Amino acid sequence: MTAAMEGEEIACAKVNLYLHVTGRRADGYHLLDSLAVFPRAFDRLTVAPADAIGLSLDGPFAAQLQAGPAADNLVLRAARALAAAAGRSLPGAHLVLHKHLPVASGIGGGSADAAATLRLLRRFWGLHEIADGQLHAIATGLGADVPVCLARHPARMQGVGEVLTPGPAMPEVGMMLVNCGEAVSTPAVFRSRAPEFSPAAELPPSWPSAAALAEGLRGLTNDLETPARALCPAIDEVLQRLAALPGALLARMSGSGATCFALFESPDAAVRAEARADFPARWWRWSGGLFQ
Ligand code: C5P
Repeated sequence: MTAAMEGEEIACAKVNLYLHVTGRRADGYHLLDSLAVFPRAFDRLTVAPADAIGLSLDGPFAAQLQAGPAADNLVLRAARALAAAAGRSLPGAHLVLHKHLPVASGIGGGSADAAATLRLLRRFWGLHEIADGQLHAIATGLGADVPVCLARHPARMQGVGEVLTPGPAMPEVGMMLVNCGEAVSTPAVFRSRAPEFSPAAELPPSWPSAAALAEGLRGLTNDLETPARALCPAIDEVLQRLAALPGALLARMSGSGATCFALFESPDAAVRAEARADFPARWWRWSGGLFQ
């Protein structure tokens, strides 16, 4: 492994193919049943030796985040949580987050950044004593989506998101992501949802093709889509335009929004559809395949 690779990690977007809200805990957190997959869209994180733990930002969405020592940035929180868990004196580390994914957009960008920080700094600091199980526990303390982003392969999320089991075997599939440019607050979406709960999904052991996956997902929902659309009406237009693209098999919102996705037969089909799509310039978009 080269020095550059040792000092670098990618933080992949997370997409919820469906998301059922199945209950609510006494502390207000919601119980979920969801299938998370990881498109090859990512932020990049690099690290270099320094006297203290620090962070700087660049990339197209850097301006929407804060990086100072007092900032409540998930990357800094992850770095400090890992250092505290190590329980011994560690050198500093200067992190640079290259922010390519939209912020507060339902694709787990902040959670993915935190998970990438844990992976990167465990390696950088040589914390071999911190086993995967302990890293998962640290991730859980940082946010409900951080553990699945740490695993970074298709997984079923239950509990509040931290209970992970392998999902059905996935076919090759293409994906397009589109974000209308409006940040949506996850707590606000959860607060404004109707009080009903959905049952956990019944999933097959595998989906043999992208078309079968789309067909299977059609019987499931993202329960946060309706409240998110009420808070951010532009989601409606994104969903309509994605569903109308040639080759789109299914269009749905991810997480608490506002990013929506469409599924295609193959990564190439998704890239071709994006090249022909006539979306407003302010809409962020990405197309390609998934990490399996
Ligand atoms: O865990 P995370 O910080 O990503 O969650 C942000 C907010 O979303 C929480 O403070 C909570 O209001 C809501 N949430 C929830 N149930 C979950 C995950 C998040 O109610 N399972």
